[in-house]
Amino acid sequence: MAVAAEPRSDVLVLFGATGDLAHKKIFPALYSMVARGHLTEPIIGIAFDSWTVEQLAARARDGIQAAIGTVDEAVFAKLAGLLRYVSGDYRSQETFDKLKDALTGFRHPLYYLAVPPSMFEPVVQGLEQSGGAAGARLMVEKPFGRDLQSARWLNRVLHIVFDENSIFRIDHYLGKEAIQNLLYFRFANSFLEPIWNRNYVESVQITMAEDFGVQGRGKFYDEVGCIRDVIENHLLNILLLLAMEPPSGRSAEDLIDEKVQVLKAVRTLAKDDVVRGQFAGYLQEPGVAPGSTVETFAAVRFLVDTWRWQDVPFFIRAGKNLPVRATEVVVKLKRPPLDVFDAIAPDEANYLRFRINPEISISIGARRKLAGDEMVGEQVELSAVDDSAGDMEPYERLIGDAMNGDIRLFTRQDASEAAWRIVGPVLDDKSQPAIYEPGTWGPAEAMAKFGPPNGWVDPAK
Ligand code: BG6
Repeated sequence: MAVAAEPRSDVLVLFGATGDLAHKKIFPALYSMVARGHLTEPIIGIAFDSWTVEQLAARARDGIQAAIGTVDEAVFAKLAGLLRYVSGDYRSQETFDKLKDALTGFRHPLYYLAVPPSMFEPVVQGLEQSGGAAGARLMVEKPFGRDLQSARWLNRVLHIVFDENSIFRIDHYLGKEAIQNLLYFRFANSFLEPIWNRNYVESVQITMAEDFGVQGRGKFYDEVGCIRDVIENHLLNILLLLAMEPPSGRSAEDLIDEKVQVLKAVRTLAKDDVVRGQFAGYLQEPGVAPGSTVETFAAVRFLVDTWRWQDVPFFIRAGKNLPVRATEVVVKLKRPPLDVFDAIAPDEANYLRFRINPEISISIGARRKLAGDEMVGEQVELSAVDDSAGDMEPYERLIGDAMNGDIRLFTRQDASEAAWRIVGPVLDDKSQPAIYEPGTWGPAEAMAKFGPPNGWVDPAK
């Protein structure tokens, strides 16, 4: 059986080293780790392509240049010095024997599976059969399964070889500074707790808008759709941070236990909890199946059956080709019980806004008196804006955590299965989603009737 926590991994093995994710996210993250002095261990890239290590380094450089904008030659030389490359088919035991040779002398590899889930099983079996799994950790990319059944199956497959504390299921949103701040802000301030419940909160809305389409990922996206791509994981994880109870201790388990508690209380979705949309032109994207009914937009209503949240709707909307690129949370409070001065419209009640992307800020929406004789007011926002320059990117933080065996920011088996249980009934809906024009907020007619009691908040405002 693989080890649980403690010793730092002494080598990183990257499956899918020549792939898109490695190029766009993982090599830039490894470069930043090297720049900060956070990574000195060797990196063994592994993939099917019969490349040389120089070709891999050139590809890594290209990704770093694209993501960061510059390449510091001294840092890159250090990174290139750590790189090794093994090529081979993941279904052939010979590949794993070659890898085993490359791992001679290392005791605690971290295997990072940046490959499609269909490859998890052959890779894990290959590692086991070559004797490479002992003392190792395993990091796996999303999507983790396609539904509850496949996630359970994958978990079973991984658990034959790795114990749960050695498995790191990535959701890169959990590595974002602004999302960690949600958790911190909630539980490091006492003023929130008295109002953070059904007595004061009217509704919660989470928006993840992207002002671009599927960017050449049509084939991948068409097998996934919006609910699987970002709602079941990234956005549901945000909901959990907003809805969970305070953890009873500081350990990773304490935190994850509370998330799982609230997940258990999230009601399983029904069809009328969802509005699905598809942007006009999606069917012409390369890789998209003719007549595809996959959604590129979804708005979903979640209910959390706890004393704290009974009857408070949590709305999530996400989509491609929307008017802006923005991720944010708005927690709307109920309006005051009586208008003592001027009339306060329902959509002018207090709120908390957490901007996650591209700007990072926490704001409180409040009213104050306008200067003059009359007791009339105006809406203002009190904001703490973050300068995120120099922050660690999610992949950098998460790879570092996995190397150190820190499971705090990863998804545990029970959490991943509970999330699939919640969205299960609304996956793979074969009915035609409503078409929306690129640059709009999803299917207008359906959205006019669906959303928080006093409407959606425009993140651009
Ligand atoms: C990925 C999705 O997980 O997250 C993409 O597959 C999406 O479709 C991306 O664009 C968004 O991540 P970020 O960090 O840019 O908000």
